[in-house]
Amino acid sequence: MTRTPVVLGVESSCDETGFGIVSEGTLLGQGLASSASQHAEFGGVVPEIAARAHLDAAVPILQIALHDAGVELGDITHVAATSGPGLATAVHVGLAAAKSVAWALDVPLFGVHHLAGHAAADTLEHGPLPERSIVLIVSGGHTSILAIGDLVRDPIEHLGDTLDDAAGEAFDKVARLLGLGYPGGPVISRAAVDGDPAAFRFPRAMMRSGDPAYTFSFSGLKTAVARTVETIERAGDPVPVADIAASFEQAVVDVLVAKAVRAVKDHGLDTLVIVGGVAANARLRAVAAERCEAEGIELRIPPPRLCTDNGAMIAAVGDLLVRADADPSGLGIAADPSAVLHGAQLPLPA
Ligand code: KG4
Ligand code: ZN
Repeated sequence: MTRTPVVLGVESSCDETGFGIVSEGTLLGQGLASSASQHAEFGGVVPEIAARAHLDAAVPILQIALHDAGVELGDITHVAATSGPGLATAVHVGLAAAKSVAWALDVPLFGVHHLAGHAAADTLEHGPLPERSIVLIVSGGHTSILAIGDLVRDPIEHLGDTLDDAAGEAFDKVARLLGLGYPGGPVISRAAVDGDPAAFRFPRAMMRSGDPAYTFSFSGLKTAVARTVETIERAGDPVPVADIAASFEQAVVDVLVAKAVRAVKDHGLDTLVIVGGVAANARLRAVAAERCEAEGIELRIPPPRLCTDNGAMIAAVGDLLVRADADPSGLGIAADPSAVLHGAQLPLPA
């Protein structure tokens, strides 16, 4: 008799150390530590600091995840780990931890693409994805519109990506220039609550009729915010941080939602899934809900704690791979810091 799979997921691609445990689509428990506060004074993640923090956190956070799930280490039947993309030093620590556990327990190891993890996170909240859907991934390093079938069996089709900054990166850069610290998303949305989203009309790039429908560009927006702040400061006036934060947030959200909704309609589909750290943004969630409701589109967004990086989402991919009977990646897998998303497993099976 085969044992019910109990999959341990390990995430360490950026500044979150995450361990999650998933069994047959159900999240049993997780542990999460963040080194974000250690990077705040630098305005962005310092890879070496992140790697050391992963090393410190690995064993205690694994213990927390096991305790939270109510399972013993020996109950784990499979291990899945982010093997890319991400900061090389950071990915190495989690991957080495995952290899140690898999080897010690003599269980299979799967390398997982971090962005597929973001998409899989939604299944822990809303159940299996429909046969086909459009997924908008908005994280600190990536902004993509994808056409998805079976997340672990089918190739993943990129409809469009960003030409320059990712949406989360734009939040982080604008937060830095407003003196709000890192990570930018949460501090900007907090500042934006008291602001007027129509106070400044910041540019919405790639929205003209001849522009590629699903391609993004956020660097011009960041520059426009920087110019505005400079002009106000040069005039000796106080910078209206709340209004700028709200207007910036509105500009990002308008473009994200317009393009994602268009992709769903153009492809004759009825489900939009929004995932990644920026999907935790309250304005994005509200505007997307309103637009999808008006268009008759089913909107799926994981709860905020499953939008930002975590181990549960990686365990969710591992669990889907196990149930799809995928061949394990093996203990020899290498980190692939710049892996492009073509499939959920890394390396892609030949
Ligand atoms: O997915 P994630 O946790 O890590 C990556 O894979 O990059 O995303 C991190 C990004 C950061 O840029 C952060 O500023 C942004 O997600 N973020 C947010 C919010 N929470 C996190 N952006 C906007 N609003 C938020 N509430
Ligand atoms: Zn991420």
